[in-house]
Amino acid sequence: MANIPVHLAIILDGNGRWAKKKGLPRNAGHAAGARVLEDMCEVVWNKGIRFFTVYAFSTENWNRPAGEVEALMKLLRDYMKNSVKRAMKNNMRVRVIGDKSGLDADLQESIASLEEATAGNTGLTFQIALNYGGRDEIVRAVRKLASENDPDFMKTLTEKDLSGALDTADIPDPDLLIRTCGEERISNFLLWQLAYSEFYFTDLAWPDFNEAELDKALENYSSRTRRFGGLVKGEE
Ligand code: IPE
Ligand code: IPE
Ligand code: MG
Repeated sequence: MANIPVHLAIILDGNGRWAKKKGLPRNAGHAAGARVLEDMCEVVWNKGIRFFTVYAFSTENWNRPAGEVEALMKLLRDYMKNSVKRAMKNNMRVRVIGDKSGLDADLQESIASLEEATAGNTGLTFQIALNYGGRDEIVRAVRKLASENDPDFMKTLTEKDLSGALDTADIPDPDLLIRTCGEERISNFLLWQLAYSEFYFTDLAWPDFNEAELDKALENYSSRTRRFGGLVKGEE
């Protein structure tokens, strides 16, 4: 394919609806979704994508029933604990973006040890957005900059300064954003970073997402003209 995105981001949506349709509890949908995600890391890397970011739990998802939040946290806990071996085998670097300070201490610890163990890997960079909100990320970044610098610095703050203080510092912005299960909104994901990303929506629920659908999205992406506000050759 002509143009492969360097950075792919996915809002994995529809776990609950997928389960409900099958007469299963919503949490079975989350478990199925987690399995698809693990496989997708390898598929994505094999396409030539270098950065892969997924929305796993938003700052607003705390509003779900306690049992569902607990089940999601358990899946995330299990992932952080059990995925080191596979990540090392695949040379994958795992990072978590979002407000980690809002997570339970043991989960924070397993995240830190997974990040540390895989920090030197040179294959896919896999970013998991967890307790993540785009607005929250920007506010945290501004607070951090204000607390580390003098007021004069803040008066002349640049886009580069703010970018560098976000959780995604040093990661290129997503080229392509996919959202599954028919919803066509951002839901507070990567508000800053998606400024010029291409969007692709599919009706498939996340647990049904597969390589064929990814290929469709990539095909579609490669036919897009990205102008970044300017004109491309031949349009002048
Ligand atoms: C996506 O599936 C996973 C999370 C948001 C954690 P949902 O749980 O949002 O599934 P639907 O949208 O209710 O079907
Ligand atoms: C967005 O999905 C958050 C994640 C995928 C983690 P939601 O299902 O929470 O989004 P809304 O509520 O439908 O906008
Ligand atoms: Mg949803």
